[in-house]
Order: sequence, then structure tokens, then C-alpha cells
Amino acid sequence: MSTFPIYRPRRLRANENLRRLVRETALSVDDLIYPMFVMHGNDTAIEISAMPGCYQYSVDRLVIAAKELVTLGIPGIILFGIPASKNPLGTEAYAEDGIIQQAVRAIKDAVPDLLVITDVCLCEYTDHGHCGLIEANEVQNDPTLELLAKESLSHARAGADVIAPSDMMDGRVGAIREALDENGYENIPIMAYSAKYASAFYGPFREAAESAPQFGDRRSYQMDPANAEEALREVALDIQEGADILMVKPALAYLDVIHRVKTEFQVPVAAYNVSGEYAMIKAAAQNGWIDEARVALETLTSIKRAGADMILTYFAKFVVERL
Ligand code: PBG
Repeated sequence: MSTFPIYRPRRLRANENLRRLVRETALSVDDLIYPMFVMHGNDTAIEISAMPGCYQYSVDRLVIAAKELVTLGIPGIILFGIPASKNPLGTEAYAEDGIIQQAVRAIKDAVPDLLVITDVCLCEYTDHGHCGLIEANEVQNDPTLELLAKESLSHARAGADVIAPSDMMDGRVGAIREALDENGYENIPIMAYSAKYASAFYGPFREAAESAPQFGDRRSYQMDPANAEEALREVALDIQEGADILMVKPALAYLDVIHRVKTEFQVPVAAYNVSGEYAMIKAAAQNGWIDEARVALETLTSIKRAGADMILTYFAKFVVERL
């Protein structure tokens, strides 16, 4: 490559047309998945205090909001449920008339064009707030797999298009794949939260989903933020067990992990721009300290540039209106 003064990088930055032609990364509505929270009740939408613009919806209001997403061209949503009651086994997670099951049926009925991904986990449904069964104060891996498989199957029966396990138990992708296949759901893809870190960026979500652990923390199952090679091992396992889309979560503090997963495995990669990442931008913007639209677009562009094929983001609606 020639050097200065023969090569002057500024030549190609001189005007917007040139910049458009040499632009390497383009964020598109096609990249976006919008996370939504659903609860029991009627005609209710409660704004989540640390996530301005995001709501806990009753099923009827969720359907109205889902219609708007289709109008905006957003391809899909990921659903999180807030149950009527919680217990040690998280039974509403896999109940026939659980909140997610009701919500999926209602959306697939009224808004069939929207892809519905369901988050599969127990923490929203257990009274202890952990992502698996507890015995002797420890989250039990193998007994949890059965419940996750049951939960996945009940989501599929309700009409879910994609199953997204976020619990971080070992072997759960294989257990879910087997349960789906044995019941005729071999065409339902699994989007695995493969490299999910024990992150402080989930704080606002835990308020939204009412899923904070009641004792201890999630560090015996979610990953240590210091590790990247371990993420590659997790991804390799999930691919072997049958995952179709591999997720890295959170996104912004883990751009290197997104990049390594994309370059080392040629698989579809999803990145979750989580609640804390959203809340920080919203809070700074409300104080007038940053330009919200530009920072949101820059953030999502960086996640795409790192290698994500799709982004789960609470900014989906906001940025589509500004793309
Ligand atoms: C459930 C789950 C969590 C998130 C997605 N699925 C919370 C957690 O693991 O504590 C976080 C999403 C966000 O912060 O936006 N296990």
C-alpha cells in the first residue's frame, strides 16, 4: 500500500456520496430483534423505570404493539414472561396456559407475519430467581435439563417460531433439540445464548422480568467476564448439540468475543444489546449529555461491524425510525 502523500485517506471522506460508496457496515431493519415483556391482566402497559420506552404488556396490549413492529418492518421479537405466581419448580414456565404460551398463541393468531422467539429459562418463574432447580443451595444441572426441554416443547406447541435457551446449563441445547425432534418440531431452530456472561449489565432487565436471584448470584452457571477462549468452547459445544444461531451476551463489552465467534465458526451470530447498555444511553440522553440517536446507531453499528448477523435490542423501534 502506498503511503502519504501518495495515499491520502481523507480523499474518500470528502463528501457523503463518497462516504456512502466506501461504507463497510450498514445497519438494516433486517438485523433487528425486539425484546418484549408480557404479563397477566388486561389493557395494561407498565413502563419499566430503568428502561424508558419499554413496557410490561398484558397480552392484548402486546398484540397491538406487535402489529406496529410489523408495520415498521422489524422481522422478529423475543418474548419474556412475568408469571402470576412463582414456585421452586417454576411450573408456569411450562404450563399449557402460562403467560408465554398465551402470548405466543395470541400473536401468532393476530400477527402471523412476525417471527416469535421465546426465551427459555426458569429464573422468571422460580421463587428463588435462579435459572435451574435448587438443591442444597446449588443449581442442579441435569434435573434442570428436563424442565427446560419441557418448557421448550410447550413454547413450540403454542406456536413459537424459534426457541432461545438462556439458562447456561451444560447440555441444554442437546436436551432441547432431542425433545423438539421427538415431538415433530425438527424444523424449529434453536438460538442458543451460548456465551452468556455473569454481567452487571442485566440489572434493569431483572426489574423488568422480576427475576433477580433471591440468594447468591449466577456466577456458577453464567460465564466469567474475563474469559474469551471459554466462550469459543461453549459455542463449539452448542454447535455440536444442534444450535442454529449462536448468541453472545451482553454485546458492547464483548465485541471481541462476537468477532472471534464469527471468524472461528462460520455460523449465524446474534448479539444481545442488553438492558444496562440501553439504560446507560437513555439516562445520559435524558440528561442532555449525549445525542441519543447517534449514540444508539453508533453502538448498533459497532456490534454489526464486530461480526453480529443480528442484534437483539430495545432500540429496535427507535432506530428503525431513524435509519
Ligand atoms: C434470563 C435472561 C436474562 C436476560 C435475558 N434472559 C437475565 C439474567 O440472566 O439474569 C438479560 C437481558 C437484558 O439484560 O436485557 N436468564
